[in-house]
Amino acid sequence: MVRVKVPATTANMGPGFDALGMALSIYNYIEVIPTDEGVETLVESENLHLELEENLIYQAIKRVYDKVGESFGGFKIHVYKCDVPMSRGLGSSATCIVGGILAANELLGGKLSEQEMLEIANSMEGHPDNVAPALLGGMVASVQEDGKVYYSKVSVPSEVLCAVMVPNFKVSTNEARGVLPTSYSREDCVFNISRASLFISALHNGEIDTLRHVVQDRIHEPYRGKLIPNIDEVFQASKDAGGLCEFISGSGSTLLAFVHRDNSEYLENMKSVLGKLDNEWTIQIVSPNFEGASVVK
Ligand code: HSE
Repeated sequence: MVRVKVPATTANMGPGFDALGMALSIYNYIEVIPTDEGVETLVESENLHLELEENLIYQAIKRVYDKVGESFGGFKIHVYKCDVPMSRGLGSSATCIVGGILAANELLGGKLSEQEMLEIANSMEGHPDNVAPALLGGMVASVQEDGKVYYSKVSVPSEVLCAVMVPNFKVSTNEARGVLPTSYSREDCVFNISRASLFISALHNGEIDTLRHVVQDRIHEPYRGKLIPNIDEVFQASKDAGGLCEFISGSGSTLLAFVHRDNSEYLENMKSVLGKLDNEWTIQIVSPNFEGASVVK
């Protein structure tokens, strides 16, 4: 039996569509028990509804066993604590993929390297910006090319915390990818390339006052913002409450803001604004997770 803990992730982070992501201190916990035959899945949360045929955890386990060349009878998969909501842009599917891969690798005595696990995860997810930080922790910039993933950790200043604002409506990633254009003007490309570059450099140098002018996007937010009622009010309220920058988390519907650790009034100010909106919103302030997915001893 093995238990793993996998962090939620926020991807895109403004200008870094499909390239930047960061792990958050919100977790799903998965237990995997090898059995003689069949697959049994037990999920103790309304956050996650897994149909067997699309059970990402099982598929991920199977990919690892196949790669290592080991046979198996079956598995009992138990998601025993689930704090990452589904279809809210917080990397719920990445927690299942990475959790299944890490658990299987642990059961097989750690035969796969971190890089091999990352590449299996990326091949299942299709883009590395959630699975890379979910596995590795921290903020990660990543590129996929011919099945390989190249990545680098991005430093995050210690004063940065994340306000995670989750509405009661879902946005499916497929739908949210479908609303994007298939080509962009050179002006929009330059807008994003310059900001993504400066974002990483500003974080590295601790220039957090620059973030407001840098964390902006023309690749996905103008299109996906239309799927998120009140996005402009929430972003403006965050700015007024002293947020450092705001962006759509992954493909939404969660909105995320960087907040200075010393901004003690941000949470109450935002609760009051979010409480007046038509939809229900929750907000919590969490720190980045720097450890990544781990085996629970
Ligand atoms: N980069 C992906 C997207 C993240 O925006 O579609 C999905 O969670």
